Order: sequence, then C-alpha cells, then structure tokens
Amino acid sequence: MSHSTAARPLTARSGAALKGRVTVPGDKSISHRALMLGALAIGRTTVSGLLESEDVLNTAAAMRAFGARIQRDANGLWTVDGAGLGSLVEPETVIDYGNAGTGVRLAMGIAGTHPIAATFTGDASLVKRPMGRVLEPLRMMGTRVISRSGDRLPLSIHGPGTPAPISYRVPVPSAQVKSAVLLAGLNAPGQTTVIEPIPTRDHTERMLAGFGATIQVDHDDNGGRVITVTGQGELQPQDVTVPADPSSAAFPIVAGLIVPGSEVTVADVLLNEHRTGLLTTLQEMGADLEITNIRETGGERLGDVRVRHSQLRGVEVPADRAPSMIDEYPVLAVAAAFAHGTTTMLGVEELKVKESDRLAAVAAGLRANGIECEEGESTLRVHGRKGPIGGGTVTTHLDHRIAMTFLVLGLAADRPVTVDDGGVIATSFPTFEALFAELGGDISETGEQAA
Ligand code: S3P
Repeated sequence: MSHSTAARPLTARSGAALKGRVTVPGDKSISHRALMLGALAIGRTTVSGLLESEDVLNTAAAMRAFGARIQRDANGLWTVDGAGLGSLVEPETVIDYGNAGTGVRLAMGIAGTHPIAATFTGDASLVKRPMGRVLEPLRMMGTRVISRSGDRLPLSIHGPGTPAPISYRVPVPSAQVKSAVLLAGLNAPGQTTVIEPIPTRDHTERMLAGFGATIQVDHDDNGGRVITVTGQGELQPQDVTVPADPSSAAFPIVAGLIVPGSEVTVADVLLNEHRTGLLTTLQEMGADLEITNIRETGGERLGDVRVRHSQLRGVEVPADRAPSMIDEYPVLAVAAAFAHGTTTMLGVEELKVKESDRLAAVAAGLRANGIECEEGESTLRVHGRKGPIGGGTVTTHLDHRIAMTFLVLGLAADRPVTVDDGGVIATSFPTFEALFAELGGDISETGEQAA
C-alpha cells in the first residue's frame, strides 16, 4: 500500500533537555527477512518484536499474495505459516510495495525463480529507484522481465521452469542485491554464489543459516566475502525475535548528543558489526557514548546505548565505512552541523538512490536552516555551525529519514524547523513522535505548538 494520505507538516523546537530510557521498534531489515523466510519455510514461524511499519506490512501483504498465511495476535506475536520453497502461488493482483525498496527487491528475488508471473509497483519515490541492479542477475537465472525503460517499477517478472544457478559479483555494495540473488538461489538447482567485494549487512546469510539452508560464507584475499547457497533444500520454521533497529536508534542517539543537558539511553539496540558505523563515527567525534549490557540473542549482538550531550568535533568519515552506516548519513550530517569544524563524508554516492536523492535532500535541508555544506559526486562536507541555525522548512521527498533527520535538528536549533510531511515517518518508525515526547522533545503538527 502506498502512503497516500495528505501531507502532515511537523515542527520541532528546542526546549528542555532530553532525558530517559527508550526502546525503538524492531529492525526493518530483519523484520522483512523474517516474514519472507517464514513464507518460504514449511510449517509455522513466529516473529516477536516485528517492526509494524508500512514497509514491513507491505511485505506481509506480499507474502500473503504468494500463498503464506500471516497473522498477528493480540499480544503482537506474528505467525507465518509458510507456503514452502518452490510452492509460491501466483498473486492475483499487482503487488504495491509502497515506499519499500528492500521489500520489493528481495521479493523480486524470491519470485524471480518461481514459475509464476508477478507484477510489482510502488509509490512516487519507489517508481524512481533503480531495479536493474536486481533484475540483471535475475535475467541471468532465466527470469523474464517486462519493465519500463531504465528498469523501473511498475514491472512484471516471470520465473523460469528451471532456474539457472549463477555466480554473481555484486557491482555496488548493496545488501539488497546480495540478498535478492541468495533468495533467488534458494529455488535454483545447485549452488548460487554471491561475491561481495565490500561486505554489507549480513542478516540474510545469518537468518538463512538459522532457517536451515545450506549456506557457506568464505573470505577472499581482498577482504571480500564469497557466499554460496545450495538451492532446492527445505527451510525449517523458526522462532525469531527482532532486535531494536540501530537505524531508528540513530535519531534519539544524535538528539541526545546535540540537545544541551540531555542524557538518553536506547535499550536493546542491534549491534551487528555491519550496522555500527554511526556509533564508531560519533565516538571519533568525541561523543560521550557508552555501550553497556552487551549480550547475544538469536545469533545477533545487542546492547544499550547511553549518550550525554557532548561538544562534537568534525571528522573525516572513510569511504569503506559507508555500508555499515548507509542509512545514518542524514542524521550524521545533523551531528556535524553542531560540531566544531568540518565533517567530510567520503564514498556516499549510494545516497543518491535511496528513498530520495539523500545527498541533495540533506544538503538542501541544511542550507535551508543556515548550515554551510558542499555536496560532490560521492562526498558530503558539512561545516559546523557558525551562527544561529534553524527557521527553515525542509522538503522530505517521501523520505522518512529526511523527515526524522531535520526534526532532530529542530530539537537543538535556535529557531523551529518544519518538515513538509511527517506522515512518511510511518514507513519505518511509527512511534517516532511518541518516543520523542517521552524524552521531553517538542515535536508537533505545524501550527499546533505543544503546551
Ligand atoms: C537494506 C540495505 C540497504 C539499506 C536499506 C536496507 C537491507 O540498502 O539502505 O535501508 O535490508 O538489505 P542497499 O542494499 O541498497 O544499500
């Protein structure tokens, strides 16, 4: 389902210090994958802590359309009765994936090696995003594709009777591409191999192993990873507990660092090494940031992240860190705006093909609020504040992280900051406003200042 309600402008104002211990919703990447692997297993998978956001609900709807039975009980426990690998049914209608790039790319991987036809579309943001990066390996496996020029949604795919297993070197560091090929490989006879020169988040590999797939991960001499899945086995249902999303935790963490007097703890945050680039960068910037209560659950590391207001300093963020913080650059730019000196982010060209062109959207939002910055082809340079900031209205371009980023800016700015549509936040973080209210932050509908 597409986000179709009228735009809902929100305004953030500085005020009291942010104080408290909060929990952000479940990880979006793991939530999508839990529903998908559950749909491919035979038997009942349970999922607790599922992120109940628009993007993930679109995956639930898609997996139902492919034949899985998916339900939520009154306590928020989700059950998935899988259709089974190789047994997906042909969807009766177009699958509208709304804003969800991860969802649609992984679902195309799953459907692409089943002998069924499926048509996918999305909202005004998703139809602009490149799908060729997933369609190219699928075509090599025998999937037929009918698409608009440039391989954009809406598009239809038809999987072959006998898919060809492939060995595929991912041309861009993308966990979505890697995952789409591995999921396609699940229903191809023999071994499908993905070579990723630059490692990206590894939730698909970990969860496939957990669901009993035959999967092997090797390392090549250049630090890359070689992942091989053996197709046409059976997946065993699992009980999945979804940890809190580090990409959502990033917002209260940065807010706690830039709002004077704050002390914020975000509990139970996923600390997978491919997701912690922002925490590393903030520590290099001089953040008072402590990770405690580190433990392992369901094969993933979790911990509590505690921050206190800190005077940050500008740093250079190396290009090879990008995959481990790819969704966190917008909010890092806000931390950089409050730092002494300049922060330079290298190797961030993938930001141009996210829910919006995030390089352009971040730069425009910063400038609208009086912060100097320069964007290059693959770089973003942000100069720490030199005078009063805020007072601007930011265009979100249907991008949830742009909306949340600039509301965080407003919580510490000299003048209020407005985003033109806060409704888009529901795609990944439906409790965002309530969580900031709990911490004492002032975010309200534009024109309705909180009492
Ligand atoms: C995701 C991978 C990343 C990330 C997205 C979630 C995933 O995209 O930006 O929000 O769950 O695999 P890319 O793989 O395109 O970098």
